[in-house]
Amino acid sequence: MLRRGGLCALPTETVYGLAALARDADAVARVFAAKGRPSDNPLIVHLGDAAGTGEVAEVTAVGARLLAAFAPGPLTVVLPARPGLPPAVTAGLSTVAVRIPDAPLACATLAITGPLVAPSANRSGRPSPTTWQAVLDDLDGHIDAVLQGPQTAVGLESTVVDATGDVPLVLRPGAVTLDALQELFPGARAVDAGAEAARRSPGTRHRHYAPRARVRLVPGATDAEPSPEAAWIGLDAPPPGYALVTVAPDVAGYARALFDFFRRADADGLERIDAQAVPETGLGVALMDRLRRASSGRE
Ligand code: TXA
Ligand code: MG
Repeated sequence: MLRRGGLCALPTETVYGLAALARDADAVARVFAAKGRPSDNPLIVHLGDAAGTGEVAEVTAVGARLLAAFAPGPLTVVLPARPGLPPAVTAGLSTVAVRIPDAPLACATLAITGPLVAPSANRSGRPSPTTWQAVLDDLDGHIDAVLQGPQTAVGLESTVVDATGDVPLVLRPGAVTLDALQELFPGARAVDAGAEAARRSPGTRHRHYAPRARVRLVPGATDAEPSPEAAWIGLDAPPPGYALVTVAPDVAGYARALFDFFRRADADGLERIDAQAVPETGLGVALMDRLRRASSGRE
């Protein structure tokens, strides 16, 4: 189906992606249409093997070291693009984002199709899907198929790293943490929020990850405001009275559960989600990034 230009959602280790042949301009156009995605937001090209990166991108020294250390895995590397991809893939930029996923169904698919674009398989602006059921909630009728794989292991989208310069620049935090990058490159840093982020990372210009319910970021269980119209997610147990509660055992479990929890709260018609803040170290940086995006500009 993919080889004929179809659209198939599939699980990666981060979130479900909506896959289509990266070199098929019509299929790529259908991906943007199915998601309702703004055309100025470029797609990630997924490859089965880091060895193929040179066919779509110019592999910089920084990029080569990052791929050697973290591929396959939840890392996306932004590199100078080579000509040949449909312009819509890169939204007309001179760079291309490349990722080599690790999840078995994604790897098996890539082995028979070659390069695939795969944005998160949600309608634009909605939380990324971590289950195949969530994919269908958003995209049933707009795509050709979904592989019914497991709930995704990480639950947050990949770390996007600009590797066009002398040191890695994190454009979107993820499970490959800044600490891990700094072990390899002491000068690695994250992009400043605001102007620099908007310029370098097109996706951050758009509202993201947001459920319909209003998300309130709260420091701890003492800040809980239980209500039959509200949900709680965090590391600590809240006082009784919430309609829906998830207490995660650790930050990784919180990250894995978050987007599905957002969708359940919406399915239950709840008005508010109280999400407990976590320390901004390791994976906590990515989790707090998603929580802030979900909560911003809504009150
Ligand atoms: O974990 C993931 O990365 C998932 C799975 C399915 O692989 N995919 C994903 O794709 O999250 P998407 O399209 O939802 O997010 C891609 C992000 C966007 O923020 C986009 O702006 C950024 O990567 N991006 C893509 N190409 C870029 C480029 N050339 N320069 C800077 N940012 C780029
Ligand atoms: Mg997305």
